[in-house]
Amino acid sequence: MENRVVHERWSKVDADWLIVGYGQDSSFTGPLAELDEDLGGKLQKLKELDDFNGKPGELLAIPDIKGLTAKRLLLVGLGKVAELNKSRVEKAIMTAVRHVSGRENMTVAVAHSKLGKSLTNADVALIVGTSAVVGGVGQGLYQSEKKRFPLAGISYVASSAREAKSLTASLQKGLLLGEAMNITRELVNRPASEIFPATLATYAENVARQTGLECTILDEHDLVHENMNSLLAVAQGSDQPPRMVVLRHLKGPKNSPTLALVGKGVTFDSGGLSLKLGDNMLTMKCDMAGAATVLGAMSAIARLDLPINVIGLMGCVENMVNGNSFKLGDILTARNGVTIEVQNTDAEGRLVLADVLSYTVDQGATHIVDMATLTGACVVALGEDVTGAFTNDQELCDRILSAAEGTGELVWQMPMFDLYDELIKCDTADIRNVGGRWGGAITAAKFLERFVDGKPWVHLDIAGPSFASSNKPAREGGATGCIVRTLVTLAENFNTKS
Ligand code: BES
Ligand code: MN
Ligand code: ZN
Repeated sequence: MENRVVHERWSKVDADWLIVGYGQDSSFTGPLAELDEDLGGKLQKLKELDDFNGKPGELLAIPDIKGLTAKRLLLVGLGKVAELNKSRVEKAIMTAVRHVSGRENMTVAVAHSKLGKSLTNADVALIVGTSAVVGGVGQGLYQSEKKRFPLAGISYVASSAREAKSLTASLQKGLLLGEAMNITRELVNRPASEIFPATLATYAENVARQTGLECTILDEHDLVHENMNSLLAVAQGSDQPPRMVVLRHLKGPKNSPTLALVGKGVTFDSGGLSLKLGDNMLTMKCDMAGAATVLGAMSAIARLDLPINVIGLMGCVENMVNGNSFKLGDILTARNGVTIEVQNTDAEGRLVLADVLSYTVDQGATHIVDMATLTGACVVALGEDVTGAFTNDQELCDRILSAAEGTGELVWQMPMFDLYDELIKCDTADIRNVGGRWGGAITAAKFLERFVDGKPWVHLDIAGPSFASSNKPAREGGATGCIVRTLVTLAENFNTKS
């Protein structure tokens, strides 16, 4: 996509659409006043007529305006300036981009009124870049009549010539992050008939080649050799053999710490013999979102050439039913020797991650973050838009929470009191793979903790936010690409704070 930062009178900016964000309480001063003047007082009039107030997400499209070089004007409300933050600005810009991306090959310029102290123009330029890329891609990959098209060009209108240069870097970084999110989104949106362990691994290999990551794929024989019996048990009931993908970006100084990003890649979760009922199975192509998030984040880390060591691991398995399926009561010996009684084959994600986490520890990871669409219980607890965080190391968790805050993503920490450990105890094995009726998101995390060998670790349960059930003005339904930006930010700060 063409991208540039311009510094011009707003009415002179050339584009198919000029998007103007303005606050509910914005006064008509500076470039906004100039625009109003060039448009013959049109904006003031709209306000007086109560046709546009700048309320959050409010849109008004005006084609063919006299005095405007751009072909069309789109006003988007930012809400109250004093209440603005990154996620509100992103919502507004995404809403506007989604409005204009219904047509092919649109060029878009974004300008906005003064935003107050909580945001810099660099923050906004980055958000504009990301929104331009993410908002131009829908989930209509398989629709013959497309409803959404990538933009042909994006411009950010800077408020001074001096700023234009540094803002270009922010805009371009925004584009890069959006592209990483779209990798994740595309993989999650593609159905399980296309994305199964072998194809997911090949896809990762291609992304790795394009972005300069090292990539190793372990096939089912390698996994047997690695003693990954817990992961293999889940794969047993599928005609599709499992894979583990290991991505490496080793650009840190020798002996510097290694951050590991680990993802659940269940390419379809039927529940196994504990078969899912009713609508619960409908969206289970999304159950590899954790692995897809790892790939998206690793692609950005590589493209940004961050001077640190990061490895990405994707545990890719299909959870199906056949005559060889793993069964309730089976006792598995995981790679690290922990024995597990299977009490529900639908609690498969933790069985996959168990072995991938222990492999990760043996790869020399000093800090581990895993992402997984792990439990419905986490969605019950936090709703569809918030990621749950679980940790054995408050310091690492705090770094993730602040990285999330810095990107406008919503992550909330859950407790890990000792008492939850009791709930996964078992009479026949060291642990069981379910913890009973209550606290299901936490008992799942407690299970994972058994496989990280005491290394600083955070588990992110993305069952809610990774896949949206419906379209909203500010985002497309389907895969969201959540947490990619949080991970990239974490990696950017990793160097200095490790
Ligand atoms: N993949 C599901 C969790 C999930 C639910 C993801 C909804 C996205 C949306 C996971 O494998 C699962 O089935 N978890 C069970 C665990 C239970 C059997 C202990 C659940 O949450 O019901
Ligand atoms: Mn399941
Ligand atoms: Zn699952």
